Amino acid sequence: MLHDIISIRDFEKKDIEEILFTAKKMEQYVDNGTTLAKGKILSMLFFEPSTRTMMSFQSAMERLGGSVIGFSDTSTTSVKKGETLIDTVSTMDQYSDVMVIRNPLEGSARLAAEVAEIPVINAGDGTNQHPTQTLLDLYTIKKEFGSIDGLKIAMVGDLKYGRTVHSLAYALSMYNVELVLVSPRELRMPEDITEHLKDTIPYIEIVALEDLPKVDLVYVTRIQKERFGDPNEYERTKNTYRIDKNSIKLLGNAKIMHPLPRVSEIAREVDTSPNAIYFKQARNGIPVRMALIATLLEVLP
Ligand code: CP
Repeated sequence: MLHDIISIRDFEKKDIEEILFTAKKMEQYVDNGTTLAKGKILSMLFFEPSTRTMMSFQSAMERLGGSVIGFSDTSTTSVKKGETLIDTVSTMDQYSDVMVIRNPLEGSARLAAEVAEIPVINAGDGTNQHPTQTLLDLYTIKKEFGSIDGLKIAMVGDLKYGRTVHSLAYALSMYNVELVLVSPRELRMPEDITEHLKDTIPYIEIVALEDLPKVDLVYVTRIQKERFGDPNEYERTKNTYRIDKNSIKLLGNAKIMHPLPRVSEIAREVDTSPNAIYFKQARNGIPVRMALIATLLEVLP
């Protein structure tokens, strides 16, 4: 298994399957906890806001019997005094056994892993990668459908800046799936990823949700205001897709996933529909992150 979790591209399919298998085993500890990681400390270095990734890592470590230190607001740390990322990572390396980092700079997690002796987990580096989200997405798909192979999956929204869909597209290219990429022209999946898809799995690109063929799963993403260099581009594209009680009819029985947070792309009225599985998906972050921590700390049951 890998020493660090930085990019889904570092994974072979067998590594992914091993994590999904371990996550399933971790389900037995989700309710009552375990002492597998007793005495171990996880540090969280969050240079960007987070609810799910940060809280589910914390919840996962506490359910494993370990403890958590870290920050989610750099204004309360020595970053505020000008401390570099390298020095911050080198310091937290002394205080913990495994490190989770989210930073807006692409490549920051890779840099942290080069500096730290302890295992480093990328919780999102800019628009690049979010590998632990992908693992919980795959876990959710497998749990819901029994198998990832054979599915037709649509990705909808901001495919240009969305790190979750970047990681997920690479991961799905290891399976026998078909992809439908649905985005405004300005927010198409980056070319390096579509070039990779061309070599691996069938995919099509469309703009209008009305043109969506029958699919098993629709993975919706937020148009991410914080990633746009040009505010006009955001204004032009922000309301392109909205799934509500009317437009959901276009999706048939397809399940709907979303890494969350959402803003307006899925109406709250959709939450109670049998299609919606995005809160189940968020919950699956717990066993998957328990599996990752226990694997990296070598404290597997
Ligand atoms: N899915 C996800 O990364 O959510 P957060 O930004 O809340 O961590």
